[in-house]
Amino acid sequence: MSTVKLVIPFYTTYGTNHQMALIAEEAAKEAGAETRLRRFAETAPEEVVNGQDAWKAQLEKMQDIPEVSHDDMVWANAYLLSLPTRYGNIPSQAAAFIDTLGPLWQKGELANKAFSAMTSTSTMHGGRETTLQALYVSAMHWGTVIVPPGYTDEIMFETGMPYGIAPTGGDIKDAEKQAIAYQAKRLVEMAAKLAA
Ligand SMILES: Cc1cc2nc3c(=O)[nH]c(=O)nc-3n(C[C@H](O)[C@H](O)[C@H](O)COP(=O)(O)O)c2cc1C
Repeated sequence: MSTVKLVIPFYTTYGTNHQMALIAEEAAKEAGAETRLRRFAETAPEEVVNGQDAWKAQLEKMQDIPEVSHDDMVWANAYLLSLPTRYGNIPSQAAAFIDTLGPLWQKGELANKAFSAMTSTSTMHGGRETTLQALYVSAMHWGTVIVPPGYTDEIMFETGMPYGIAPTGGDIKDAEKQAIAYQAKRLVEMAAKLAA
């Protein structure tokens, strides 16, 4: 049985973070983790979602992926979140779920677990760093052990995002795919050390 239980909660409107989460899950499995791919529940009004063909199609495509639950957060000993930026901050869909975690946080159920995050933006300086930093602030409150990719591998010098991988403009470049796999693998390795 694997010592690392990784939950990968992601939010996406147009599909980028769904792809990122799938790449990460494959790499985490290769690194020996047991994984749960989960999506944050969509909270935008139905008429807003249905007003955009791409948003509606993406949501339909993900119907078979379970929504992230409190049980997932307790089960896991490692978290890898993937979220697009919203005005340089995290999407409200993710915040809505995070805001329900108070009772687990109070009981220490989120503490001492490995935590890492990825994001995406439409523009290079559109908030990749602030989005990840905002998320890492909550992770600090939980008492998780943050595992950023840093510049700990050659691939990180190509992507230049030590906080977490952050593709820009809806296009995930090959180097970013490699870096996502690297971030997931490093998280699994660190989580295994924590669990030892
Ligand atoms: C309400 C809203 C706010 C956004 N704010 C920003 C922003 O501040 N900076 C930016 O670069 N992109 C911004 N975006 C673009 C998204 O971050 C981008 O479309 C996203 O990375 C795509 O990820 P997805 O395909 O997983 O949905 C915004 C998009 C929406 C809908």
